Amino acid sequence: MHTHSGFRLAGVMGWPIAHSRSPRIHNFWLNQYAIEGVYVPLAIEPVKLEDALRALPRLNFLGCNLTIPHKERALSFVDEVTPEARRIGAVNCVVVDEAGKLIGKNYDAYGFISSLTDAVPGWQAARNSCVVFGAGGAARSVVCGLIDAGAQEIRLLNRTFDRARAIALDFGSCVSTFAWEERHEALAGAGLLVNTTSQGMVGQPPLDIKLDLLPKSALVADIVYAPLETQLLAQARRHGAIPIDGLGMLMHQARPAFRDWTGVMPQVTAELRRWITASL
Ligand code: ATR
Repeated sequence: MHTHSGFRLAGVMGWPIAHSRSPRIHNFWLNQYAIEGVYVPLAIEPVKLEDALRALPRLNFLGCNLTIPHKERALSFVDEVTPEARRIGAVNCVVVDEAGKLIGKNYDAYGFISSLTDAVPGWQAARNSCVVFGAGGAARSVVCGLIDAGAQEIRLLNRTFDRARAIALDFGSCVSTFAWEERHEALAGAGLLVNTTSQGMVGQPPLDIKLDLLPKSALVADIVYAPLETQLLAQARRHGAIPIDGLGMLMHQARPAFRDWTGVMPQVTAELRRWITASL
């Protein structure tokens, strides 16, 4: 049994962790729904991840989120892993169950798809050819989310081809791979482009891409949220396409985690977006 006596404790483990906006999101909701508790940033060195996770039930934590560099390694330190987290190959949310066991979940795919349908209600993965750039953990959750949402065709491109190939092998025939040099042409006829590479992030050069062949009706999503408008999204806007920033995914993946811990499914609102944006 949980012995939190009404006061809810949760947090996010990362290394470093100071940049994380998750405390801002969860504490906003705790306050909004008048739930007594706190969500804290936890700076955990990689070698201490297992100990830190094992400490959660002892400290009466309801669970935690995981961010860079812990998501993949956490898979082997939890007691149970949901099928979705297993397919993605990463855990972004840990829930301590009634018996004190650690359940590893992943809500990144959910967060990504929700950010699309929130921005463009009625958007259907099944009706659109999707192009995904990158082949890290973020790409795996985007591909998983798109497939579960019904995508029939996903073109995957990564600078290191073999990493894209490995994802295609895991996820099946609806994922096709192309060489990085073909990225401009791969956009022909696509209804969605997603950047999951680190290009365009603060301190990184912009993604080198020409959008000429991308239909003007397309959605262009960047999972980067610092800066909020990456050069890719500015390019998309000028092109006439619909830009979708990375803050939506961050806010939406937090919803089911908050629900698991408190029983309340919180809402993503314009007020929450303003509160987070003010800190970027
Ligand atoms: P995450 O798990 O957060 O997605 P990652 O595994 O470090 O992070 O992946 C970063 C992605 O950005 C990779 O797809 C990487 O390509 P490689 O697999 O070739 O490393 C991509 N990336 C990084 N620098 C890049 C660059 N200069 N041009 C194109 N892609 C780049």
